[in-house]
Amino acid sequence: MKGTVLKHRPINSSDLPDILKINNQVQLNPWTQADIEVEISKQCNFSKAALKEDKLVGYLLVRECGKDLEIMSIGVDQKHQRSGIGSALLKELIQSKPPSTELFLEVSHENQPAQAIYLRMGFETYLVRKSYYGDGSNALCMKLRLANP
Ligand SMILES: CC(C)(COP(=O)(O)OP(=O)(O)OC[C@H]1O[C@@H](n2cnc3c(N)ncnc32)[C@H](O)[C@@H]1OP(=O)(O)O)[C@@H](O)C(=O)NCCC(=O)NCCS
Repeated sequence: MKGTVLKHRPINSSDLPDILKINNQVQLNPWTQADIEVEISKQCNFSKAALKEDKLVGYLLVRECGKDLEIMSIGVDQKHQRSGIGSALLKELIQSKPPSTELFLEVSHENQPAQAIYLRMGFETYLVRKSYYGDGSNALCMKLRLANP
């Protein structure tokens, strides 16, 4: 439901089963358990879990590479989609004054819902990678300028 108060907190290793479950349920190109484990182990401060009544209903995995910041994965439990959870996670990241001046991500050109949310947040496509994903779909490389250089 729109307006539901959610809690965000940093992701930790005990979140792996919940993140894996959502990943397998909703991602067009799901990650392996090992991929998720590696990402969680990096303990990026910008990676967040969204909790509703203490249940993990969404996640945002972010990677810091030098000064660059990249959204590696975002997922929201199917039952809770379209209720503002994904937007809230992205807005918190954008407003948290990250050190990077730009935020990067990749999304399948088949993934219209994800593209819609990214466009709404102000992301722009700067490159298309042909046949990038396992299902043969192209990747749109998108970025959002966070601050003036
Ligand atoms: C993409 C995703 C994270 C969005 O999370 P969410 O909590 O459902 O999104 P929100 O409720 O915050 O939606 C914000 C806006 O995004 C757009 N949007 C979200 N889902 C959409 C859908 N299924 N179809 C069209 N637009 C959609 C809309 O503009 C929406 O605003 P509105 O509801 O006022 O119209 C979620 O759909 C998801 O987990 N998808 C599967 C995983 C995935 O594709 N991850 C991204 C890989 S790059």
